[in-house]
Amino acid sequence: MTTPRTPAEIGGMGHSVKRKEDPRFLRGQGTYVDDIVLPDMLYLDIVRSPYAHAAITNIDTSKALAIPGVVAVITGKDLAAYNLHWMPTLMSDTQMVLPVDKVMYQAQEVAAVLATEQYIAADGADAVEIDYDPLPVVVDPKKALLPDAPVLRTDKPGKKDNHIWHWEWGDRAATEQAFRDAEVTVKQDIYIPRIHVSSIETCGCVARFDKVKGKLTVWMTTQAPHAIRTVFALVAGHVGLAEHKIQIISPDIGGGFGGKVPVYPGYVIAVAASVLTGKPVKWIEERMENIQADSFARDYHMTAELAGKKDGRMTALRIKTIADHGYTDAAANPSKFPAGLFHICTGSYDLKAAHVEVDGVYTNKPPGGIAYRCSFRVTEAVHAIERMTDLMAHEIGMDSAEFRMKNFIKPEQFPYKSALGWEYDSGDYAAALRKAMDNLGYEELRQEQAEKRKRGELMGIGISSFTEIVGAGPSKHFDILGLKMFDSAEIRIHPTGKAIARFGTKSQGQGHETTYAQIVAEELGIPVDDIAVEEGDTDTAPYGLGTYASRSTPTAGAAGAIAARKIKDKAKKIAAYLLEAHEDDLEWEPGKFFVKGSPDRAKTIQEISLAAYTNHPQGMEAGLEAVSYYDPPNLTYPFGSYICVVDIDKGTGEVKVRRFMAVDDCGNIINPMIVEGQIHGGLTMGLGPALYEEIQYDDSGNILQGSFMNYLLPTAVETPNWETDKTCTPSPHHPLGAKGVGESATVGAPAAIVNAVVDALWHLGVRHIDIPITPPKVWKLLRDNGVTE
Ligand code: CDP
Repeated sequence: MTTPRTPAEIGGMGHSVKRKEDPRFLRGQGTYVDDIVLPDMLYLDIVRSPYAHAAITNIDTSKALAIPGVVAVITGKDLAAYNLHWMPTLMSDTQMVLPVDKVMYQAQEVAAVLATEQYIAADGADAVEIDYDPLPVVVDPKKALLPDAPVLRTDKPGKKDNHIWHWEWGDRAATEQAFRDAEVTVKQDIYIPRIHVSSIETCGCVARFDKVKGKLTVWMTTQAPHAIRTVFALVAGHVGLAEHKIQIISPDIGGGFGGKVPVYPGYVIAVAASVLTGKPVKWIEERMENIQADSFARDYHMTAELAGKKDGRMTALRIKTIADHGYTDAAANPSKFPAGLFHICTGSYDLKAAHVEVDGVYTNKPPGGIAYRCSFRVTEAVHAIERMTDLMAHEIGMDSAEFRMKNFIKPEQFPYKSALGWEYDSGDYAAALRKAMDNLGYEELRQEQAEKRKRGELMGIGISSFTEIVGAGPSKHFDILGLKMFDSAEIRIHPTGKAIARFGTKSQGQGHETTYAQIVAEELGIPVDDIAVEEGDTDTAPYGLGTYASRSTPTAGAAGAIAARKIKDKAKKIAAYLLEAHEDDLEWEPGKFFVKGSPDRAKTIQEISLAAYTNHPQGMEAGLEAVSYYDPPNLTYPFGSYICVVDIDKGTGEVKVRRFMAVDDCGNIINPMIVEGQIHGGLTMGLGPALYEEIQYDDSGNILQGSFMNYLLPTAVETPNWETDKTCTPSPHHPLGAKGVGESATVGAPAAIVNAVVDALWHLGVRHIDIPITPPKVWKLLRDNGVTE
């Protein structure tokens, strides 16, 4: 075993540079957790493990406690006294809050120092002395499954291996038969590495326990405040924290992207510290703590196979996957689907048979498997099918656009039941691809490519015609820890016709304040400026499962429309009473009811609102408000066709994205500018993993990309000029015909980029490249295949 590097070497756990001194990202106006300062507040700093797997033999807190201003050092043993040293994950696994006897990954929380000032807490953390006895480290999930691999979860009685779960879906026999009948098959190992969401704001909280009221208020960076409140009540009920005494407030949070769904130990320690001391406690992660210890996404080792006919028809797909979850399964997938929605992997194609198998595995890494801007595992699914589609098209020598056109599910086949059991609501895949091709001048680009190839230049064109699956989800299939995945809206119209609308979701920058107000305004004819939108406070917002996986528009957006329609129904009754007309004789135009044929006999929504409190019909309840808990009948299936054009520098191996055309379809659009922004941001978050981002570990479990010095996020300099367009195929079951869109571009973009690079290199014998496609990887492939310059 090699010796772990020092904190300074791994660049993350030294406390010398504090967050306040870090160069800060520009951020918008608002109240972030880090802005909250309460009287008498204590600060928490966390001591983290330099080892990826080690027994803790001693923790000496004396030097830390001797520092003036250090109030306490909290260890796993302290929490164990209250049975708070372990907590459940959202996947019903268990995760340490603080370890009692061993650490499971580098940067894991080992102890927490509480002090009167942030810098004193940091000094205290540096002064805690911990002795470790290193244990064998397992970083490769394939090796973790070998019979002689050390068993990592020794806390689980009877556990004899590192296997978490096996999950499979589809018709195995029919798929095997289709493969036997195939005229052509392609097979490819595809690895999608660990990546990190790296949201602008790190995680943190301020926990305040009011001893007099017995009430806990936690301002925290969470995408799902209500679910967190319930989890806190379940975990800490035995120490007196009942759900009605817990208030979770998610203020402005600078991006979430799935990374702010899990409960991290720092939140729990801060809560415990506040309950114990009776003082407010603040915990804010440093940037490098965030990147090294918080949950990761992807880490999927897939072996995909596609069967087809020589004429270019795809017939069957099978995929086997090993999913590296780190030391605990702390993903946030719907309970029924431990591999998320990976079985959307037949994509946009009319495949008759498919079968997928996924095995979750423990390794000595931080928890993984979060849905990074992704409906659970849809990015992995799209990557697999779009790579395999391209592979087969190239294999049989058919243009990859023509191959896709031949295999697309046709518009008349919707609603379409996929081989893996999903019912796609609507789509016109050929229209989106045709539009992208026309916008780009696809045929001319192919000619240009042929000419360049003759001259020895490397140019590639890659397509990704993805289908998404968002809006989790219908309660008969979707729950997290048993909580059904509906979402909610509550609208109250005040006497003067102004409104407040509250939702169970939580915006992290995607503009719900604007679009939800638009939905209510559109339904009720109230000006958008007269509608206040609120989310994120469990004391006021109706219960909902939060925002991730592009679910807000399909669920809470729908709830907003339904609640508004309930209000409109009541408003109509009041209008009929005021106009002395029969309800059936009234017509609606935005903002008012009028008597059919007599447009002058009208009552505006503002007049009706006033009447609801001052002059409502006898026998009717006063007031004008409604709530909707919307249980979607189906998911929504947005889609798109992306085409990427790349040029490759033979000398350096650098891939240059020359053009990128993204045609998206998210059904009816509520706000085109916001959707455009979602797609631009999403494309950049697809470019990053395709070309730059990857978290790796050495054999000792040392993280190799633990800071922004070597975890490369694309900046404006690397980002190409995105070209966007749209088609519109409304969802037939959503009240507004809308589908989600927030993650489409992140999901769809990487495969288009990889397909373009492989297309540029296919004639040299290159069949596949795992992301990120870095210059050294391409340079080596070129040299291996005899290309020099
Ligand atoms: O759950 P999340 O808000 O991340 O995703 P979403 O429902 O796809 O919405 C992202 C943003 O785009 C929200 O502000 C939506 O209201 C807006 N949107 C829209 O204007 N039209 C659509 N058809 C879908 C989303």
